[in-house]
Parts: sequence; C-alpha cells; structure tokens
Amino acid sequence: MPVPREWRADVARVLITPQQLAKRVRQLSESITKDFAGRELVVVALLNGTVLFLADLIRHLSVPLRLDFIGVSSYGAGTVAGELVFTKELRLDVQGRDVLLVDDILDTGRTMARVRSMLEKLQPRRLRTCVLLDKPARRVETIDADYIGFTIPDLFVVGYGLDFGERYRNLADIFAVDDLKALRADPDALVPLLTAS
Ligand code: PRP
Repeated sequence: MPVPREWRADVARVLITPQQLAKRVRQLSESITKDFAGRELVVVALLNGTVLFLADLIRHLSVPLRLDFIGVSSYGAGTVAGELVFTKELRLDVQGRDVLLVDDILDTGRTMARVRSMLEKLQPRRLRTCVLLDKPARRVETIDADYIGFTIPDLFVVGYGLDFGERYRNLADIFAVDDLKALRADPDALVPLLTAS
C-alpha cells in the first residue's frame, strides 16, 4: 500500500543543503586548482550521477582543462551495486597527461577501481580521483579518493545528481532516504520535495 504523501517527511530528510554543497565544492575546486597549478588537466567524469557536481566543480577550476565522460553504470536498476555496464567510451587521449577522475559517490568502490585501472593502462602522467560523497561502510575494493567532498554513513542518498531508479537527480539538496521500502512502494513519494528544494 502506498505511503500517504503527508508522510513523505518520514521517507527522506535533508542530509546536505545546497549552501553546504556550494561551499564544500568550492573548497574542492580550490584544492584541485592549487595542486594542478601550471598544468593542463583532463577531467574524466562518470555518467550520469556526476553531472551537477561536475558542473559546479569545474566552473571554479582555474586551470586549463579538457572534459570527457565515461558512461558506466551498475547492471540493472535499484540500489545493489553489481556488474558494470559501459555505455560511453573515453574519447580524449590521456597518455602523459594530468587526469582528474570525477564521480558522485564512492560506495563499494567497484566502479572507481575498475575505471581507475582502465585509465592507468592509458599511462597518464598523473591520475587523481575526486568524489563528492564517500561511503566507506560499504567498501569492498581497497580504494580511496584523493579529493572527497563529504564522508557519509551507510545511508541511501538522492539529489544533486544522485538518483533513485533514475529519478530525483534534480533535487537541489542531498536527501537521505530513511524509508526505502516506502519509496519503493510509492516512487512518487519525493516529488513534492522537488518544488520544496
Ligand atoms: C553509482 C555512482 C557511482 C557508483 C558508485 O552509479 O554514480 O558511479 O554507483 O558505486 P560503487 O562504488 O559501489 O561502484 P550508478 O551505477 O548508479 O549510475 P549513475 O551514475 O548513472 O547513477
């Protein structure tokens, strides 16, 4: 039975506000700009969840950069990370270049580990990784990011690029879903938050 809409506040709550996101992303941009000063950067971003974070991050990077994307997603919909499916290949040449790999969330680490090892084979001069969110509780691969926006507990999060079944990427805040069962029963439960945020 669907959750009545008036209960939606119990389904999800704000975890990170737009103000907190803006401030932290700006700090990340400043650190990256400093570390890559005098260099030219190739930013490689993973589709699709990274798009909002990426846009905010790169607009404050004061180094020359080129941008490319790798399309990769866990097999199937839902919240369980599984087999990876590649939907877009890298086009830019990264050999001998400084590369920044950007993703929205580091969870089990499977995606980042796989893509990082692919990129390493292309022999960049330097390869660094940047994630908005780090969820170390669920890690199965031995991998850490060089630049981390926020370290979060083992919560299911949506908004600011992160999805629930491809939905809610356009929420301005990051929400923690407290009642995933209720959201699965009524995938529209968070729609009112789109106008509220
Ligand atoms: C999500 C997220 C990361 C990855 C992290 O991608 O964007 O790329 O999972 O999980 P992992 O550390 O367990 O590998 P998803 O496959 O959901 O695709 P999306 O970016 O299109 O949402």
